[in-house]
Amino acid sequence: MSIQGLPGFRDFYPAELAIRSHVFGAMRRVALRYGFEEYDGPPLESLELYTQKSGDEIVGQLYSFVDKGGRDVALRPEMTPTLARMVGPKVAALKKPIRWFSIPQLFRYERQQRGRLREHFQLNCDLIGEAGPLADAEIVALSIDVMRELGLGPADVRVRISDRRLLTGLLSEIGLIDGQVALAFQALDKLGRSEYGPRRRALLAAGATDAQIARLETLPGIRVWADLERDFPAAAGHGQALAETLGALTAMGLADFVDLDLTIVRGLAYYTGTVFELFDAERTLRAICGGGRYDGLLEAIGGVRAPALGFGMGDVVLTELLRDRGRLPGPAPSADVFVALISADDRPFVLGLVHTLRDQGFRVEYSFGEPALGKQFKQADARGARLVVVVGPDDRSRGEVVVKDLVDGAQRSVPTPELVGVLIAKGCRQLSR
Ligand code: HAM
Repeated sequence: MSIQGLPGFRDFYPAELAIRSHVFGAMRRVALRYGFEEYDGPPLESLELYTQKSGDEIVGQLYSFVDKGGRDVALRPEMTPTLARMVGPKVAALKKPIRWFSIPQLFRYERQQRGRLREHFQLNCDLIGEAGPLADAEIVALSIDVMRELGLGPADVRVRISDRRLLTGLLSEIGLIDGQVALAFQALDKLGRSEYGPRRRALLAAGATDAQIARLETLPGIRVWADLERDFPAAAGHGQALAETLGALTAMGLADFVDLDLTIVRGLAYYTGTVFELFDAERTLRAICGGGRYDGLLEAIGGVRAPALGFGMGDVVLTELLRDRGRLPGPAPSADVFVALISADDRPFVLGLVHTLRDQGFRVEYSFGEPALGKQFKQADARGARLVVVVGPDDRSRGEVVVKDLVDGAQRSVPTPELVGVLIAKGCRQLSR
């Protein structure tokens, strides 16, 4: 009987792991350029960390169980509560604003479908201790720059942005009150989708009128600020922070990526201000990234008041989009240099040479057996090596080796002490120590 992997969990064979590393590499480079520091937390947390503040949807998807000590625990479904828990007790000592990033693996028991698995990796970038709208622009810009770093432009991906403070103002101008507001958020989130019908009925049952709902349904049509001010003059003032964030993104030269979209609410319960999501421009995939401002979460979890915001960018949808757009790197060689031998007597010299070259940072392979030279060249080719260094008794006695370039076919004898210089001149990559 062969045992299968669990549904919704991935195996990363080397080719897939190379793609993952490519994506993570871009994420890390951009986060570092923004002055973010990397952190991590445990994959298992107490259940209560999520039941308090994450919202029903995510709580329903938890991998949770009672551990051997009788504690209710859960695999982390998102990173934000861990971040809030970690920052809470240390906040006074940490230099602010805190700019932290992490690429955790997260677990959600979701119905498996395109772009949704039961584990995924998520770049989390969060900025804590800054309430002003420039911080919001910084976070949105960081998410866009990860797209740019991976070769995606405004024709490939769009940021859809809104603000819960503005939305609350809009719902109040429409005349919705108290319990209707939460229902209206849920309805907005589902507008234009099959799940909208039940949400609309729930709003009616809670006392909203047809006229109010009709006005709510005009919100997706508002795409520019002037329309917002014309149709909702009283509420537009609640959008001041969002307007400043959009202005800053324009000044950064990133406005081309960004759309005002008043249907963006975000499913998680803790957001208090800016909310945004990144989607592929054709909207054939699920969200690539989601985030926003959550000024109350640190107090609820960590016991300290501090404004905060950030985003989570999943690897699953992003990798699908990169594949669709031909933006994934091709197979990469696993060795730069292959050292071949002519006779068994060359073996000790080859072992010494291979070791020296590896110490110098080159990726080097050789044959464990003593096959014919032609077969060793085939092995070199299969590993993607660009250069073969041939060691033979005659060359050895002259203190030389032969270097053959598999790309242009050029071949020449090189004094052994000069080999490293020749490899560098040929463009062989040295791994940094
Ligand atoms: P989220 O919207 O739940 O936000 O997830 C962010 C992104 O993670 C999604 O847009 C999606 O790309 C990816 N994702 C989520 N669930 C799955 C899944 N089951 N399979 C594949 N990808 C998935 C959060 O988690 C917030 N904590 C983000 C945040 C950080 N907000 C502030 N700081």
